[in-house]
Amino acid sequence: MKIMGVGNAAREHAIAEALERSEHHPKIFWLAEIRNPGIFGICKRTGGDFTLSKTTEPEKVANYAERWRVDFVIIGPEEPNFHGVPDELEKRGIPCVGASKDLAMIEMSKADMRRLQWEYGIKGKLLFKTFKSSQDAYIVLERYSDTLTWLQNVALKPARQAGGKGVKVVEDQQLYLHDEKQRFKSRHADWLEDYMKSYSDIDDKILVEEKVWGPEYTLQCFTDGKSVKGMPLVQDNKHAHEFDIGTETGGMGSISGPDFNLPFITKEEYDESLEIVKSLVQAIQDKTGKSYHGIVAGQMMLTEIEGPTIIEMYSRFGDPEALNVLSTLKTDFIDICLAILDGELSKLNIEFDKKATVVKAIAPKGYPDYRELAKNHPVFIDEKEIEREGCKLYWGSADLSEDGKILSAGSRLVEILAIADDMQEASRMVDNCIPYVKLLDGWGLFYRSDIGSYELLSKRIDVANRVRRLYHYRREKGILGKRIDWLPKVGKTDPVALLKNELSKSKGDG
Ligand SMILES: Nc1ncnc2c1ncn2[C@@H]1O[C@H](COP(=O)(O)OP(=O)(O)OP(=O)(O)O)[C@@H](O)[C@H]1O
Ligand SMILES: [Mg+2]
Repeated sequence: MKIMGVGNAAREHAIAEALERSEHHPKIFWLAEIRNPGIFGICKRTGGDFTLSKTTEPEKVANYAERWRVDFVIIGPEEPNFHGVPDELEKRGIPCVGASKDLAMIEMSKADMRRLQWEYGIKGKLLFKTFKSSQDAYIVLERYSDTLTWLQNVALKPARQAGGKGVKVVEDQQLYLHDEKQRFKSRHADWLEDYMKSYSDIDDKILVEEKVWGPEYTLQCFTDGKSVKGMPLVQDNKHAHEFDIGTETGGMGSISGPDFNLPFITKEEYDESLEIVKSLVQAIQDKTGKSYHGIVAGQMMLTEIEGPTIIEMYSRFGDPEALNVLSTLKTDFIDICLAILDGELSKLNIEFDKKATVVKAIAPKGYPDYRELAKNHPVFIDEKEIEREGCKLYWGSADLSEDGKILSAGSRLVEILAIADDMQEASRMVDNCIPYVKLLDGWGLFYRSDIGSYELLSKRIDVANRVRRLYHYRREKGILGKRIDWLPKVGKTDPVALLKNELSKSKGDG
């Protein structure tokens, strides 16, 4: 069997490894934009091939798949989906595990995803409003923030998935800071308008969403379009430094297990989150008339206003979240891919080891804000010692040159995974490996020691308990999802008012 993968991060290294482990003993072929040393090694070991190529040009990707005569293709990152790579492959009769362009809209357009959620009445919704210019956003934020109170505390986002950049959450709570907060919102709206100029594939530019608060988690699922099967829940940790301090990154590490769920999410919340993801898959299939075969994930938050709530959707595995689930997957990954492609997923029993996993990313200083500084440092890793510690190394943003040298490429350099009976043990195992990752020119690296620790886990449990008490109360009183709709001196305010023309847009008449 021959399989081709697309993409070059640690997530794709984990995908390649899961394919390599299969009883089908495939030859593995890969297209990537940098030469990830881990994926490169797997391709060579299995008798496949590895080529550097742009991964967002459908024709190019499909040409390689034809040349290598692969049985199917699996897509790692989101951008090939947004650019229609799965569509081109399927047009040429090459099966592809990956969401086609229209379906990947649930990730690409955070605005369309929300419209879909409101139109189909899918739980875990947030109030939102989109804008085509910062000027429009500013006018609305200025004019309505006294009457529509949700506009005071907001998340300002690029309306498109934009590689994990540009989300700012702004709370306008104290009157004496109001003017400054408005100025900040307006400055960030300008920044967003400018940033979105590099994307021509979406009309909405800026998304303003009501601010919520609570523990976050990712629910990744396999789907063949007919059934949606949830994987163990994972929590990624976005902030650069210990205990959620510092800039937001693509993810500094993730935890899962040992019992399918996370210690701070209940079985009921897991099930409800899965229902939300299932409903969204059904809605987007209904809207587009297409069948979703690939990976879909909900990046969720437990909130006091709604309970399980969608922050954004993924049309692929998360990175680092893919490592947690693929490393504990007991079922043959290729069997799962084949079931996805044949529409037979409901017949397959998908099992995972009942273990805890901890992943920690190690990044060169400079990441994520000054990536140029994080680039081109020679890397040395003692992989044998990492193995001796019982951990696994996944290469991320690292480029293997022709002469065998490895240079850092500006983002998360590697991710190290440990599997153990409990998270604390797995966390300690990864920490023991940190000294084995070095930059030979002495440039600094950073990672988060706290991921998987008792202390961080306790913090998550505390937050979840607080949020849970409040949303359960709301549910009992029948006020779950209820927003402020009356203000002194103003009278009745309609929190959904600004949403009305948003909703008509999704029906194509606005
Ligand atoms: N409505 C909201 N209320 C509060 N916080 C939010 C909201 N939306 C987003 N956030 C915070 O900002 C983070 C980034 O938002 P989001 O996931 O939408 O953007 P992203 O940049 O695409 O993220 P990623 O890094 O996952 O690619 C979230 O993980 C969450 O912590
Ligand atoms: Mg996100």
